[in-house]
Amino acid sequence: MRGLSLDAGTGPLTLGGGSSGARSVTHRPVVERSRVWYLRAELEQGRHLIATVDTSLDFAVIGAGRLGASMALALRARGASLLGFTAGSPAGRTRAETWLGGRASDGPAELVALAPRLFVIAVPDQNLPAVAADLGARLATSPPAAVTGHIGPTVVAHTSGATSVEVLAPCMQAGATALAFHPLQTFSDPSTGSGRFTEAAVAITPAASQADRSGADFGFALARLLGARPFLLPDHKRSLYHAAAAFACNYLVTLEHHAETLFVESGLPREQALSLFLPLVKTTLDNVATLGTVHALTGPLSRGDADTINRHLDALRTDAPHLLGVYRALGLATLAILRLRGEMDPPMIDELSSLLSASDELSSPLSDGLGA
Ligand SMILES: NC(=O)c1ccc[n+]([C@@H]2O[C@H](COP(=O)([O-])OP(=O)(O)OC[C@H]3O[C@@H](n4cnc5c(N)ncnc54)[C@H](OP(=O)(O)O)[C@@H]3O)[C@@H](O)[C@H]2O)c1
Repeated sequence: MRGLSLDAGTGPLTLGGGSSGARSVTHRPVVERSRVWYLRAELEQGRHLIATVDTSLDFAVIGAGRLGASMALALRARGASLLGFTAGSPAGRTRAETWLGGRASDGPAELVALAPRLFVIAVPDQNLPAVAADLGARLATSPPAAVTGHIGPTVVAHTSGATSVEVLAPCMQAGATALAFHPLQTFSDPSTGSGRFTEAAVAITPAASQADRSGADFGFALARLLGARPFLLPDHKRSLYHAAAAFACNYLVTLEHHAETLFVESGLPREQALSLFLPLVKTTLDNVATLGTVHALTGPLSRGDADTINRHLDALRTDAPHLLGVYRALGLATLAILRLRGEMDPPMIDELSSLLSASDELSSPLSDGLGA
């Protein structure tokens, strides 16, 4: 098996647990046994890492919402054991119980008593500091590893894209290994979400203060177990990275929503409008995939067609003035692509820029009623 050849200096990282010692990061040769997956993690930072993930990984989810429940189902489908889960409200607990079966725990104290190897915290970002502090306090007073059967440290992973891994400092102070584990994927419902880890990218940020890299190693192996593609993300870039994800995902939906309203306003039947323009959207994404974001661009700006842009502006001024500022801002952002492409004369790009900047609506592109 490919993953069995050990590289110098690094042995297998085992995610699984149990008093057999399978929880520990070991430096022993891998012993082949049934029901064990051997995963080879990325050649990463010049170091070969071999991770083994066995079915004895046990975990708990704090915040079994859209992502937390999706991840729980996905891990369970790969043989890991969900020991417990929580939600924030009675309604959230009922929802999570419907998704996951069983009874939701009352809170982190109950989960800590179950002594899982891994805690996944998937609560809304604003609740993360309080949840991490609460979990850290409870881990600090939990039974020592010798009693629970743990040999490796407890691992705590949060799933927020924009939040520093250092929010987990209270858990680290209690001896846990910490990491941020952000799937670059969208999860709207666990029934579909559990399948969305396959081939998804996962941004892993270990805690800088935990120099032994065990957080990164664990995160890479966990992502591999889910069939995902892990990569390391520096902690200080997480907010920028998450803003990029908002462009790629959230604002794409925003654009399609406003395109739909404009299509309907221009005469497409409301019930069919989406299905009528979706082929255009899908082909555009296909083009982005095959040609890249610079060369996939088509349309009047890419042709330098100032007359058509002027007609767009006139039509929006008349029928959808609330979208005029957004249109202008996106047009100006599009000129950056044309500059990169290098096919259009710079004076033509400057002319288009003047056209798009001309109106005073641009001074506040989002004050045109969108946020009202
Ligand atoms: N959904 C995605 O596509 C996605 C993708 C990548 C990363 N993420 C990240 O995953 C995290 C969760 O997002 P989500 O979309 O899954 O949110 P969500 O569907 O709202 O789920 C959040 C869960 O946390 C629970 N919760 C809230 N406060 C809590 C507390 N104090 N203690 C325990 N549980 C609490 C909520 O319960 P109640 O409903 O009862 O309040 C709910 O079960 C966020 O950090 C988000 O950035 C989400």
